[in-house]
Amino acid sequence: MKKIGILTRDCAGMNAVIRSVVRSACIEGLEVLGIRRGFEGLIDGDIQVLNHRAVSGIINLGGTILKTARSTRFRTKAGILKALKTIKENKIDGLIVAGGNGSLTGAHQLAAQYSVPVIGIPSTIDNDVNGVAMTIGADTAVNVALDAIDKIRDTATSLERIFVVEVMGRDCGYIALRVALAGGCEDVILPEKRFNIKKICNEIVQANSRGKISWIIIVAEGKAKAIDVSKDISKVTGLETREVVLGHIQRGGRPTAYDRILAARYANYAVKILKDGESDKCVTLNNDKLTSIPLALATQPKDSEVNDYYKLIKILT
Ligand code: F6P
Repeated sequence: MKKIGILTRDCAGMNAVIRSVVRSACIEGLEVLGIRRGFEGLIDGDIQVLNHRAVSGIINLGGTILKTARSTRFRTKAGILKALKTIKENKIDGLIVAGGNGSLTGAHQLAAQYSVPVIGIPSTIDNDVNGVAMTIGADTAVNVALDAIDKIRDTATSLERIFVVEVMGRDCGYIALRVALAGGCEDVILPEKRFNIKKICNEIVQANSRGKISWIIIVAEGKAKAIDVSKDISKVTGLETREVVLGHIQRGGRPTAYDRILAARYANYAVKILKDGESDKCVTLNNDKLTSIPLALATQPKDSEVNDYYKLIKILT
């Protein structure tokens, strides 16, 4: 193996991944090509050479210096054939794909159906990759959202209001559950759990009659819209509500130390196992030890256990 390619999706820690891939590969005597705009760049041959110097000063930056894009073309046979042509023409002997479920599914397809040596690095703020305890980007997203919620608490307390805060997480309540617990929030609405707006309103009315004056209720975007929950609560309880949608700020910003370290370790290991001939694998940790699992397993839906966290949030309210 002489030359590898790297492509990424978007979350905090992607630049730390690129830096670790490039510098680890240099030590292994491998050349690295950065594939711009994710699978779109692989289809279009949008490629740049990355050397040791090219990745200086990026470890602390959010986003990805390679840029990224959702690729509908990669889901077509014609798109995949063009991507294979790029791989062949550029003499790419192996590929590292850093991303969430969509990217890892694409990586699995290249490896399993077209025999391209590929290693995946689980990277998404949603932390919903099966068999992987922690994806890159999730810790930063939780901390970004928590910082915003702490600020919202100041104004919620001062003005004696109920705030409904919508966080990211299409199918997975990872961010919602963590920020609700860490932020001392009163309730959380999750994709994994049924919710009953009447019950939430009753709890608010009862606690209000005992003198409680402010609430923060977290909503995962995949389950409900903050505006709807906020309107319902205000209508039923007669109390003043406000809604905040945190949105894409959760995907950006300086990666936390945790995400930078995870990125450095996952990427270094990915380079090593790719060079050693492994393929169709996703890197992960088992008791803090680096290991890999089949991409076929990583791309299955993840069962997330929410009940323990949820119970604790309600106990501590
Ligand atoms: O999968 C990561 C994620 O940030 C989800 O939490 C969110 O639902 C989605 O991506 C948003 O995607 P886009 O940036 O394409 O709107």
